[in-house]
Parts: sequence; C-alpha cells; structure tokens
Amino acid sequence: MSKTILVYATRWGATTETAREIIKVLKEKFGIDVDLVNLKDKNNETNRNPDISSYDNVILGVSYAKFNWAKEGMNFLKKNKEKLKNKKLFVFISSARCGGAWQSRNYEKHEELQKKFIDRKLEKVGVQFTSRRGFGGYYINQPPDKAETRDWNMIRAWAEEIGEIINSG
Ligand SMILES: Cc1cc2nc3c(=O)[nH]c(=O)nc-3n(C[C@H](O)[C@H](O)[C@H](O)COP(=O)(O)O)c2cc1C
Repeated sequence: MSKTILVYATRWGATTETAREIIKVLKEKFGIDVDLVNLKDKNNETNRNPDISSYDNVILGVSYAKFNWAKEGMNFLKKNKEKLKNKKLFVFISSARCGGAWQSRNYEKHEELQKKFIDRKLEKVGVQFTSRRGFGGYYINQPPDKAETRDWNMIRAWAEEIGEIINSG
C-alpha cells in the first residue's frame, strides 16, 4: 500500500476546505488514507517542515492571491525538490480567477490560467507534476456567497482522477 500526504497553504480557508473534500473522496471511493498537513501551522514546527521521505504520493494545495502562491507552497517545493523526483506530485491552487473562467465555461481561458498560475511556477523550480488543477476560491469579505467560484463536482472529479492513478500504482 503506497503512502499519501496532502500539504497545503491557505490564506482565507478555501484551500483547506478543498483539501478536505479531496481527502474524503480518496477515502470513501478508493480506501486511500491521506495525512493532512498545514504548512502554515503556527503551533507545530514539524508541520511547517514536513518530512515527506516515507510518502509515495504528494498532493500540494496552495492559495493563489495577489498574483502569487502563498509563499509556504513555493518554499515547500524548493526544499523538497530532490525528494519529489521519486514521487507522484499532484498540485492544485485555489484561485478566484481560475474558478471564474471555469464557471463561465471559458475553458480556453481556464487552461491559460492553469499554465500561468501553476505550470510556470513548477517550471521555475524545476519540479515535475503528475497532474494539476486550478480550482476556484472565494472573496471572504463579499457576502452573502463570498463570491464563491469553486465547482465541487470539478474538485471531486480531480480527486477521482488522483485515486485512479494512486491505486494503479
Ligand atoms: C487581497 C486579495 C487578492 C486576491 N488576488 C487574486 C489574484 O491575483 N488572482 C486570483 O485568481 N484570485 C485572487 N484572489 C482570490 C483568491 O484566489 C481567493 O480568495 C482564494 O480563496 C484564496 O485561497 P485561500 O482561501 O485558500 O487563501 C484574491 C483575494 C484577495 C482577498
């Protein structure tokens, strides 16, 4: 049985909720247990610098705002660049703009933003991924729906894609 960890860096919480949904699908549909680690955990130094040596699969979730990743996500990649070479890496971001493009069915724009907001970041560090997805997020100060742009079906579908890959070895 391979081992899976999901590490994440959020600013306002969307990434945490998305991470929990992915974990739920992996457990319920595929029987995969996932260790969840908050890279911004103020009370736990081990969580801020997780040792991923024993894991086969790494899922990284990052908040995208102010035209950039939450810095802890990038630091994680830089620190673990060598170790990640032998693992399957899955990356998602929470980006209101990505979610907005998807919601308005502008799939071309969505792909363009995924390339810009995810692929280029990984290329810069020199890390390869198995799969990646640009999900939506929300603007916490915009009630009543916080300008939510996430599509939960899209999130669940990606979790299923990951589950298939992990279970196929
Ligand atoms: C100050 C601020 C700046 C933002 N800048 C961007 C941006 O540049 N691009 C984008 O797609 N979304 C942007 N967003 C929306 C975020 O993607 C959204 O809040 C998302 O939920 C962030 O993930 P988190 O909730 O896990 O922190 C911004 C939100 C705020 C509050």
